[in-house]
Amino acid sequence: MSRPSLIDVDLDAIRANVAAIAGAVAPAQVCVVVKADGYGHGAADAARAAIAGGASWLAVALAGEGAELRAAGVDVPVMLLSEPTSAELQVAAEHDLTPTLYTERGVRCAASIRPGWPVQVKVDTGMHRVGVSVDDAARLVCSVLDAGLRLVGTFTHLALADTPDRAENQLQVDRFEAVLGDLSAVGVDPGLRHAANSAAALHLPAARYDLVRIGLAAYGVAPAPIPPPVELRPALRLHSRVSFLNHVPVGEGVSYGWHHVAAEPTTVAVVPLGYADGVPRNLGLAGGEVLLGGRRRRVLGAVTMDQLMVEVTGDPDVAVGDEVVLLGDQEGGSITAAEWAELLGTIPYEVLVGFGTRLPRSYPG
Ligand SMILES: Cc1ncc(COP(=O)(O)O)c(C=O)c1O
Repeated sequence: MSRPSLIDVDLDAIRANVAAIAGAVAPAQVCVVVKADGYGHGAADAARAAIAGGASWLAVALAGEGAELRAAGVDVPVMLLSEPTSAELQVAAEHDLTPTLYTERGVRCAASIRPGWPVQVKVDTGMHRVGVSVDDAARLVCSVLDAGLRLVGTFTHLALADTPDRAENQLQVDRFEAVLGDLSAVGVDPGLRHAANSAAALHLPAARYDLVRIGLAAYGVAPAPIPPPVELRPALRLHSRVSFLNHVPVGEGVSYGWHHVAAEPTTVAVVPLGYADGVPRNLGLAGGEVLLGGRRRRVLGAVTMDQLMVEVTGDPDVAVGDEVVLLGDQEGGSITAAEWAELLGTIPYEVLVGFGTRLPRSYPG
């Protein structure tokens, strides 16, 4: 694709972020979560950078995502974060992925597909999404072993880790401890014990156990509203170039709905990026800005499917072809996914995974 709008991914930033986190959580190992195309950064490239930074495991949501990693030559253990369907278990077996199990049906199915398969068990200690209940966990683990599968991990997921002070985090850790105690009482080795996502890995040492599963922080975004204990470098830079300059008379509006009406003669720079690329329609209406010529400029009116408009009134130096940065750095300025998330009432995860396949990824350096 030859469009001027693209995402640069700084793989060295991913490597350095993972290395910094690995140093902070040691002796716990690091599993980097590369689902959803590596949170929009490109799964295989992000995976290789993560491994270079010290990750010993990777995690994905879908068996197909794991298969893509294998096709790209990634050969470290790859776990599936939720229990696959029987069709997905077949794909997982073909690509030597490590399934997560939490139902008797899943256990029977996995054992019939691949005797001796290394698997993990997920326990629901309070997220109330997926996992075997605390009360049933030891029984399910016994079923795993009786079925001839190999237990290589037992884990849970915290619901409030991004607010590390909340007491519910310790409650979930305590429930997980109870499960580990039940397993120990019947002489079962839980394999790798893990509970921490990025926020817990960085802010809740009690949740680190043997392995931490980090997504957001690996990509350089702080996972909690408090400063992270290690330096994190954002890996993603979204940029484009001015495609057209337009002049709006007083009293006329900009974009669909004329949500912005010019109070003075206004010059707008058009940028060929829109909500079909993952730039939210409301970015301008919510007060979003871009960097152009090293300065912050307002996005005017509604972002359209393929284009957005930026105010450049009174700046004769702005020309077609000038670089526009939506996320990332330009001449000392910086716009982050967290800033967008704050404006738009969402979380940086949603911002990052929203960038579509129309946007080419480039990997400078
Ligand atoms: C089970 C599980 N573990 C770990 C992660 C990684 O979370 P984070 O990106 O906050 O580090 C996720 C992400 O959704 C997850 O679902």
